[in-house]
Amino acid sequence: MIYNNLNLIDLNDYPVQWWEKLLSRAHDIIADPAKYSKACEGKIMGTLFYEPSTRTQMSFQTAMLRLGGTIIGFDNPATSSVAKGENIKDTTKIVSGYADVVVMRHPVAGSVKAAALTTECPIINAGDGGHLHPTQTLTDLLTLKEEKGHLDNMTIGFCGDLKNGRTVHSLIKAMSCFKNNKFVLISTPELTLPTYIKDMLCAGGHDFIEETDLDKAIDGLDVLYMTRIQRERFASIEDYEKQKGNYILDNKKMSHAKDDLVVLHPLPRVDEIAIEVDDDPRAMYFKQAKYGMFIRMALILTVLENTDKPAPLIVGSEHIHTKCSNPNCITHQETYLPHYFHGDGTTLVCEYCDERTLVE
Ligand code: NCD
Repeated sequence: MIYNNLNLIDLNDYPVQWWEKLLSRAHDIIADPAKYSKACEGKIMGTLFYEPSTRTQMSFQTAMLRLGGTIIGFDNPATSSVAKGENIKDTTKIVSGYADVVVMRHPVAGSVKAAALTTECPIINAGDGGHLHPTQTLTDLLTLKEEKGHLDNMTIGFCGDLKNGRTVHSLIKAMSCFKNNKFVLISTPELTLPTYIKDMLCAGGHDFIEETDLDKAIDGLDVLYMTRIQRERFASIEDYEKQKGNYILDNKKMSHAKDDLVVLHPLPRVDEIAIEVDDDPRAMYFKQAKYGMFIRMALILTVLENTDKPAPLIVGSEHIHTKCSNPNCITHQETYLPHYFHGDGTTLVCEYCDERTLVE
């Protein structure tokens, strides 16, 4: 096992009790934000956004500013040394020597874990390609906890780009840790959930069905998590065009849903939720974005306190001659990275991107 700082790469690296501590801390912050206005005085957060972002970046930044800390970083790698060809290791190691905590978003799966191997301070995954987005999941959990009062016993529909939507992957993994949650996976056959996550649901005995028709599924849902089709992750614009506009939530569909449905969306929205739905009290996505700032305040505080036990970073071992089967894995881009896998002799699971590789 390799340990280092109190990083957040994948929420499932930590026990549910740790998430619950963050949720209750965020609840306290919402009740009295002024109490925390000097909690991170003298501390610096570095935000390294290699990919566009509005909510995640700004909510992290305002979270730190509201805690009395300061921020450095870039939101356009073209204006940093990345444009000169600097690798992830060098950029993140240097910034982690300047800052007390680093928040990183990158277009390639496993990139934040790769950085965490050598960073000198805690690093938080703000989205690594189509893989995971743990702080959006904390945002979603806080929204559900505050608005529904519980995180178990729910039927949760996920609709849209389930293949490439990292927020979907992270939230399904998290919600499967609470009792008696059922999943309705609504997508076209081309954009279904990655096999490794479906295998995880099967292995855990979780109840899930795949559905192509939102109309058919909506009346049984307690939560509907809408997502945009992730244009930037498609191989061609033609492939994207075939998928866009397939699912649009409008007032007509909402009229068949439960009165206490909660509609979530990580945002940005493209066309998958009609503007008319915004006035429906069940539409929770703008409130959800605000909860994101409070949970990130709780997370920054917790990470900087540094009293919790860090999750192990690598649980497997190095396989020098095995290459990850996922072409979108960071190990193919940053070729100096050790090839870490866990699992048995024939199926190895990549420690960076979680995809499986069969070995002879
Ligand atoms: C999401 C993301 O970046 O994965 N946005 C966000 O962080 N709120 C969802 C998306 O881009 O569709």
